Amino acid sequence: MKTKMWKIHNQALQEAAQCLQQGEVVAFPTETVYGLGADATNEEAVKKIFQAKGRPADNPLIVHVHHPIQIRQYVEEIPPLAQKLIDHFMPGPFTIILKSNGKAAHTVTAGLDTVAIRIPDHPVSQALLETAQLPLAAPSANLSGKPSPTNADHVYQDLNGRIAGIIDGGATGVGLESTVVDGTQDTPVILRPGGVTKEEIEQVTGQLEQNKSFTQVEKQPKSPGMKYNHYEPDAPLQLIDGSSTFFQQQINQYHKEGKKVGVIASSPLSEELQADDLYVCGSSDHLQEVAAKLYYALRYFNDKPVDIILCETFPTEGVGEAIMNRLTKAASSQLAE
Ligand code: TXA
Ligand code: MG
Repeated sequence: MKTKMWKIHNQALQEAAQCLQQGEVVAFPTETVYGLGADATNEEAVKKIFQAKGRPADNPLIVHVHHPIQIRQYVEEIPPLAQKLIDHFMPGPFTIILKSNGKAAHTVTAGLDTVAIRIPDHPVSQALLETAQLPLAAPSANLSGKPSPTNADHVYQDLNGRIAGIIDGGATGVGLESTVVDGTQDTPVILRPGGVTKEEIEQVTGQLEQNKSFTQVEKQPKSPGMKYNHYEPDAPLQLIDGSSTFFQQQINQYHKEGKKVGVIASSPLSEELQADDLYVCGSSDHLQEVAAKLYYALRYFNDKPVDIILCETFPTEGVGEAIMNRLTKAASSQLAE
């Protein structure tokens, strides 16, 4: 299949919408990461998402709609606290899990009795949803196991020849996926940390139960996607938790073993390190900036001659929780001082 690359204009949206209506899959920008969309009510179309990504069939997809009013079309009920969360955070980097009424394709929910819904806050995704007049099932538009795409080139690298087209809407803003919240319970439960922070959610709900750390991988997670390998760069990634001196010692040790070392670090730490190649992912004072650059950083070394990538760790407050959740999953090891 030849994958089309659309630059954003009206004609492109019409063409992309037509592909979706014909049961094809199309990648499009959202404010978090690029999504790989298909008609969420068409089983055959949704199967193509799983095929293109190489995604395990037991990992359900998020249904994207363009207005809160449409949520009711796919769910049994919206409990009052879930409604409050919807009012506060949607549209935005926030996904709510509710009891499914069975209108979304079986393959979307992977046979669960719940469905995940999100309203992307991005002009291109909004325009596409309106033009296509379809609910779009859309996971991140990467090959399964790879870092999520934050620009159209990333999507092209992973999915060229496997999908009908990509709408190029430039770099995404948030850079990490939406926060997934189970809204079926009396108290909401965060299943995946993301663009909306726990602190922001607690301002609406009051204090949430202290969740187990998202940096630990659970055996039977409620959000099925959390158990698979994720976000892995081509070279092994090791997290380094310690001072700049400790970090530099690890780099030197790998050099002694004849290995080439790539480093991902934020400033000011990055200014104190010497490695074979270094990607500066913003400033540690602005974790939003680190989040926006994180997946870019994980892909940066793919065509570079490095044997190992070392990355600093970040405090797990605010968006730092989502950053550390993704880094811990991407890493094959971690060293603390
Ligand atoms: O920001 C995002 O959420 C992006 C953009 C494209 O919208 N999408 C995204 O989709 O990250 P994906 O498929 O990569 O991640 C969806 C997560 C997975 O961990 C999946 O297991 C979980 O949501 N999920 C989906 N439906 C669920 C359900 N019914 N119950 C529990 N978890 C669910
Ligand atoms: Mg994903």
